[in-house]
Amino acid sequence: MFNLTTFRELVIAALWTGLLAGLLLTAVQQIQVIPTLLKAEVYEEAAVVPSTENSHAHHDWQPENGWERTFFTAVANISLGVGFALLIGAVMCLRGRPSHWRTGLLWGLAGYLTFFVAPSLGLPPEVPGTEAAKLADRQSWWLITVLDTGFGLSLLAFAKTRTNQFFGVVLLAAPHLISAPQPEVHNSAAPAELAQSFIIATVFANAVFWLAIGGLMGQFYKKRVMRTHNKHVLMCTGPRCSGNNEAAFQQLGQKIDARPQLKVKRTRSNCFAVCKNGPILVVYPEGVWYSCTDESVLERIVSEHLENDVEVSEHVFHRLGTGDV
Ligand code: FES
Repeated sequence: MFNLTTFRELVIAALWTGLLAGLLLTAVQQIQVIPTLLKAEVYEEAAVVPSTENSHAHHDWQPENGWERTFFTAVANISLGVGFALLIGAVMCLRGRPSHWRTGLLWGLAGYLTFFVAPSLGLPPEVPGTEAAKLADRQSWWLITVLDTGFGLSLLAFAKTRTNQFFGVVLLAAPHLISAPQPEVHNSAAPAELAQSFIIATVFANAVFWLAIGGLMGQFYKKRVMRTHNKHVLMCTGPRCSGNNEAAFQQLGQKIDARPQLKVKRTRSNCFAVCKNGPILVVYPEGVWYSCTDESVLERIVSEHLENDVEVSEHVFHRLGTGDV
C-alpha cells in the first residue's frame, strides 16, 4: 500500500540518486564532452553563422568557462537526475515488485533508450554553430518520440498478447517513419570529425548517466522504500527453544519476500524467556505472541495475520496489555 512514508522514502532515494548520478555525469562530461564542446565553440565564434532562433548559437547570458560553467552544469545534471530518478521510482512502485540494483539497471537502460537513443536517431546531438529545424518542431517531434518509445517498450516487455506486442513495435517505429524535422540546409561551423566526436562522447556520457540512475535508484529503493514497514515480526532463534528456529526464520523471510506488497520487517531475538513450543514469534504493533510449531502455522501467520490482518487465534498464547490467553 502506497502511503506518505513510502512517498517520503521515494523522494529521499531520488534525491540521493540524482545527486550521485548528476555528479558522475558532470565528471564524465568534463573529461569527455566539454573539450570537444570548447573546440566547437571556437569554430562557432570564428564562423559567420546566420543568427536565427534555429541555430545552436549563443545569444543570452551564459556562465564563464571554468568553475562557473562546471557549477551550473552540475546543478542542471543533478536536477535532471532527480527528475528521472523520481520517474523510475514511480514506475518501480507501480510495478510493485522487489527491486535492487540489477533490476534498476534494466530500468536505466529503458530510460536511456527512451529519452536519449530514440530521439537521437532523428535529432542527433549537435555541436554549437549547427543549423537546425525550428525549435518548436524539434520539441514536438522529441516529445512524440519519447512517448511512443516509452509506451512501445512497455508493450514489448509486458504485453501478454502478440497483437499488443506488435502494436508496441509500431509505436517504436512510428516517429522514425514520419522522420524528424530537419533544416533546409544542414550547415555546421565545426568540422564533421568534431561533430562525430561530440556524438560519441554524448552517447557514452548519457549511457553512464542513465545506468547510474537506474542502478542507484534500484539499490536505494530496496534499502529505503521496500524497507518502509508497518509491521515488525520478532522471532526467537535462541538455543533453548524447541525446533529449528534458524530454518523457520529463513522460511519467514522467503514467505515475506514472496509477497512484495507486504511492509514487514523481521528480526531475530535471542530469547523471549518462554523456551518451549518454539519458535516463538511476536508481531508488532499488535503485540501478539505466537507459538509457531511448524511451517503450516508459519504460513497461516504470514497469509492471515501479516497479509490480511486476521490473527491466527488458536496459536496465540500471549497478548500485549492482556497477558497470557
Ligand atoms: S530460547 Fe526461544 S524463547 Fe527462550
